[in-house]
Amino acid sequence: MSAASLFDLTGRTALVTGTSGGLGLGMARALAQAGADIVGLGPAPMPAAAETIRGLGRRWHEVVADLSKPQDYGAMVAAIERDFAPVDILVNNAGIIRRADVLDFSEEDWDAVMTVNLKAMFLITQAVARAMAARGAPGRIISVASMLSFQGGIRVPSYTASKHGVAGLTKLFANELAPKGITVNAIAPGYMATDNTTALRQDADRSRQILERIPLGRWGEPGDLATAVIFLASPASAYVTGVILPVDGGWLVR
Ligand SMILES: NC(=O)c1ccc[n+]([C@@H]2O[C@H](COP(=O)([O-])OP(=O)(O)OC[C@H]3O[C@@H](n4cnc5c(N)ncnc54)[C@H](O)[C@@H]3O)[C@@H](O)[C@H]2O)c1
Repeated sequence: MSAASLFDLTGRTALVTGTSGGLGLGMARALAQAGADIVGLGPAPMPAAAETIRGLGRRWHEVVADLSKPQDYGAMVAAIERDFAPVDILVNNAGIIRRADVLDFSEEDWDAVMTVNLKAMFLITQAVARAMAARGAPGRIISVASMLSFQGGIRVPSYTASKHGVAGLTKLFANELAPKGITVNAIAPGYMATDNTTALRQDADRSRQILERIPLGRWGEPGDLATAVIFLASPASAYVTGVILPVDGGWLVR
């Protein structure tokens, strides 16, 4: 196999959750550049994302679904198979964050984050893996973890719990799905310039503290995840499963 074909996703279909912008659109764009067709999922239509993917010459299919609400994920995956194509690659990217001092943190902020970041991630992964296993097809599942899959963080208790959960479930799914030819890994982005971190970047003290700790000296950009997601989605990572891969400018080793 040539080096280029190790990273070729031509003919593959990737379902990416939270595709409207930020890291999700960045990863969808990278997968499309490597050859994959994209199923985007978000709570509202995503015309800009559709245009981006089609502009790369790939097919785009949209699922409008709010992951904070109960969903029939089995029916959702069956409809994608029927109306577009079977899913070969799943990227669990959709996520939210709520910030408040831990002593004031509300049950509502706990439930909201855990539902989108962890419960929906579990149920979508289960539904997609069931479909892959039923087809006897190999598959790739990639979830978005966080620095807060390793560290405690400040003022984000439900986010930290959810991202530790994403890391744990990545390892559990890796163990149980390996015999079915499905690899399961996660990418742990460092501090990236997206809507998720607007509040941090607007707080001059926190922003300076964060930048000072990043050895590579800058906030990450969505494009910084491109090669990591292509690697984990492609034949190049055939013997890699259960890994939580930091893409963090060196944050964790400081
Ligand atoms: N930005 C960072 O520094 C950073 C660091 C580590 C991990 N992450 C993670 O990366 C992922 C993407 O975040 P981002 O930084 O691009 O932020 P973002 O806010 O720009 O994007 C979040 C995406 O999730 C989608 N989403 C949110 N709620 C949803 C719902 N109820 N149903 C369906 N989709 C929903 C949004 O539509 C959006 O497309 C998240 O899981 C986040 O926790 C971000």
